[in-house]
Amino acid sequence: MKLFDVYPLYKVTPVAAKGIEVTDEQGETYLDFYGGHAVISIGHSHPHYVNRMTEQLQKMAFYSNSIQNPLQVELGHRLGTAATCEDYQLFMCSSGAEANENALKMASFHTGNTKVIAFNNSFHGRTSAAVATTDNPKIVAPLNAQQAVDFVPLNDFGAFESTISQGGHCAVILEAIQGVGGLDQPTTEFYQFVAQKCQEYKVVLIADEVQSGFGRSGKFFAYQHHGIEPDIISIAKGMGNGFPVGGVLIHNKFEPWYGQLGTTFGGNHLACVATLAVLEVIEKENLIDNANELGCYFYGRANEIKAIKKVKGKGLMLGLEFDFPVAELRQRLIYNQRIFTGGSANKNLLRFLPALNITTTHIDVFFERLQLELETNTKE
Ligand SMILES: Cc1ncc(COP(=O)(O)O)c(C=O)c1O
Repeated sequence: MKLFDVYPLYKVTPVAAKGIEVTDEQGETYLDFYGGHAVISIGHSHPHYVNRMTEQLQKMAFYSNSIQNPLQVELGHRLGTAATCEDYQLFMCSSGAEANENALKMASFHTGNTKVIAFNNSFHGRTSAAVATTDNPKIVAPLNAQQAVDFVPLNDFGAFESTISQGGHCAVILEAIQGVGGLDQPTTEFYQFVAQKCQEYKVVLIADEVQSGFGRSGKFFAYQHHGIEPDIISIAKGMGNGFPVGGVLIHNKFEPWYGQLGTTFGGNHLACVATLAVLEVIEKENLIDNANELGCYFYGRANEIKAIKKVKGKGLMLGLEFDFPVAELRQRLIYNQRIFTGGSANKNLLRFLPALNITTTHIDVFFERLQLELETNTKE
């Protein structure tokens, strides 16, 4: 059977990875400033993570949600403390889209409404309601397009107010830093306005922290830069450092009932241990502070390079905007400089999403190699 061909692939076959380095089948080493799309939070094969996962695997990998699982309870406590989200309840699933799907479903159960407000350039995943709230008609099948979603430009107070005041919305879903869309952010005033209007119109505010959560933005959650409190927070990606795990933090004001949400794989033993190991490393190695400090360092280095028109993002969720499409530059960085970077819906934006424990030396190497490629580009 051949593969269903939906992914355009770079000609690289990684077979091993350690820290920020990825090695291919020819033994060539690459620096991973992409983290498999913001997934690798504590570095590839971190020894603590490997030990914890190995130990758990030898004991028990999986059982369903029909038995008691103390690891889920422990994770709820640890996550509540680490994220200062003690007033929330944890529901575990296995991906970012599934997290948003459940978040939207909870909002609809809670309010009895069906319409959702999302923002231009948003990305919330590829499942039913999640993809309907994603601003990319190409990936929305007619089946998904049945969902009633109002798209509003980010930071447009008037458009937001006139939309929410029409009534009938169950949720507003918002990324505090747009990932796939290209690192645009709501201003603090706008995020606070959205939160206030959600309260006024009794609409559930969902913070999509699938990409920006778990310390990537320099705070545990990116919404925490704005002094607001969402009703529901969706998480995945960096949470498991590569193990497929997602979750929803649901405010205590939501009352669960048996059977309301469910999934076979969500919160299995290995998924819990992967997340616990990530939290332990984030805490032990002060990775949120590191993300903050290195984000500032990155801005400083980027501002020295003329070809870079704009630096975007926060912490280690960063991007460099050029005045040309970066697709070819990304290829050159891989094949000539052995560096992985990310792209986005903004074709001129090169994204930088490394593990949170990189060092200033890694950033220096990144800019040296980027500079080399930019110089080659202008000589041709
Ligand atoms: C902000 C955001 N939400 C949701 C998703 C979907 O996550 P997944 O691919 O795990 O379903 C993504 C994936 O890139 C994302 O960036």
